[in-house]
Amino acid sequence: MDDTLAALADEIRACTACPLHRSARQAVPGEGSAESGILFLGEAPGYNEDVQGRPFVGAAGQLLDQLLSGIGLDRSKVFITNVVRHRPPENRDPLPEEVAACHVWFERHLLALKPKVVVTLGRHAMYKFFPGESISRVHGHARKKDGITIFPVFHPAAALHQPSLRADLEKDFQALATFLETAPRPAAPAPEPPKATPAEQMTLLG
Ligand code: URA
Repeated sequence: MDDTLAALADEIRACTACPLHRSARQAVPGEGSAESGILFLGEAPGYNEDVQGRPFVGAAGQLLDQLLSGIGLDRSKVFITNVVRHRPPENRDPLPEEVAACHVWFERHLLALKPKVVVTLGRHAMYKFFPGESISRVHGHARKKDGITIFPVFHPAAALHQPSLRADLEKDFQALATFLETAPRPAAPAPEPPKATPAEQMTLLG
């Protein structure tokens, strides 16, 4: 992780903005890089994430890793975090005030990573941007909200509980890969003009 992301992770580990920090073992700030331009946003750390301090390290995380490798990516090239950074007790849904208290870290990650797209994993992350929408209606397509491109997909854990969703999730990742190919990249330095081959140099020298 680069220095900015590492410093941000330290700030998140010290966060006491909502009561979740009291029941959780530790914060799960998120991990990865800006390389692919994808910021994945899950719901909340579960048991394994709470123990390890890393996002998506349980069964849902293994499926996420498989979906990423299906489109030629691994987790070191994407950034993965959650709507709330401390595990809710008994894995209950995060409360609106907890989501609101944690929003500042999402904004800080946006600033640090400047992603092309925020991929929301599941209903809770999608609701953050499109409250009242149905995940089965909006998944698999990019939509703008407040200048951010959001790409909702089903939660990998949902596909583990309901295997019929697996094919949809794979299709969503293929659609994400296509979207990324066409999405504009941040301006890159102008390429150097091609060098003349030795034969061309001879011709130029006359
Ligand atoms: N589910 C989530 O939403 N986030 C994690 O980090 C792990 C499982």
